[in-house]
Amino acid sequence: MRSSTGVKTSTPLVVSKASELRQVVAAWRQQHLTVGLVPTMGALHAGHASLIRAAAAENDRTVVSIFVNPLQFGAGEDFESYPRPFEKDRQLARELGAAAIYAPSPGEMYRPGAATRVRVSGLSDVLEGVSRPGHFEGVATVVAKLFNASRPDRAYFGQKDAQQVAVVRRLASDLDTGIEIRVCPIVRDVDGLALSSRNAYLNTEEREAALALSRALRSANSAFLKGERDPGQLRRLLQDTLREEPRANVDYADVVDPVDFAGPGQLAVLAVRIGRTRLIDNHQLGEPFAAALSG
Ligand code: PAJ
Repeated sequence: MRSSTGVKTSTPLVVSKASELRQVVAAWRQQHLTVGLVPTMGALHAGHASLIRAAAAENDRTVVSIFVNPLQFGAGEDFESYPRPFEKDRQLARELGAAAIYAPSPGEMYRPGAATRVRVSGLSDVLEGVSRPGHFEGVATVVAKLFNASRPDRAYFGQKDAQQVAVVRRLASDLDTGIEIRVCPIVRDVDGLALSSRNAYLNTEEREAALALSRALRSANSAFLKGERDPGQLRRLLQDTLREEPRANVDYADVVDPVDFAGPGQLAVLAVRIGRTRLIDNHQLGEPFAAALSG
């Protein structure tokens, strides 16, 4: 069935067990259909939508996983309060052409006695890894499980979480998954704020203050385009711009290599707290700052 917008609107299958998902995918494979996986924690917005659209365009069947992964939240983080609008998500995934939604419960994902963890060393211990100990181990473990349960040809991730992309690429290669990792550009709101499920926590003043992140990235990018290459100078520019916003509490602001996140490079990365909300953003210096597209 097709809607007026021309997208497929057949109801996607909702499965909650890895064994069920494996059966569904195996049946597709028998028909020689290709499979794309889009891992998410739900509360889908236009950033997620861009990933699902890309997967649906490049594969015969798309699986969207929706799972708020307790393992990647630290103590005192927002695991409990993280938004879970499942019906809305299911509707959107369907409109975007997902063939199946994999939505396991925490108890199904981590069955009693589960003791295996996946850890990408080095990469997991810098920047986001320092601020959020254990976070990337949680991400790597759940992503490895999602890869195993769905055995996709391709998996889709957003550049919004640049260090996560580096961790997932390393994992996919090191574990011989054979899965192609596809990375989609950051989707921003019209004013430049990178879309995030956590933006919903911001009040009006905080939402305004959050623009400091994209402003800082823009100013570093302008300097870079004018020839500034000194990483120290570029880092200072990020930090100085953020300091102008009194509500912004900088966790880190740096210019790093986009593969190892260690040595200096051309990826500007930021983590900033605005009130109780922690936001991250990044920009590959020298690239045009993405025209805002929302909705
Ligand atoms: P979540 O935050 O729901 O994001 C799911 C995917 O959407 C990630 O790959 C993320 O980078 C991408 N995304 C989020 N905001 C985006 C934006 N504004 N533009 C483009 N892409 C965007 O990231 C996770 O979930 C989890 O860590 C997960 C990989 C699902 C493992 O639990």
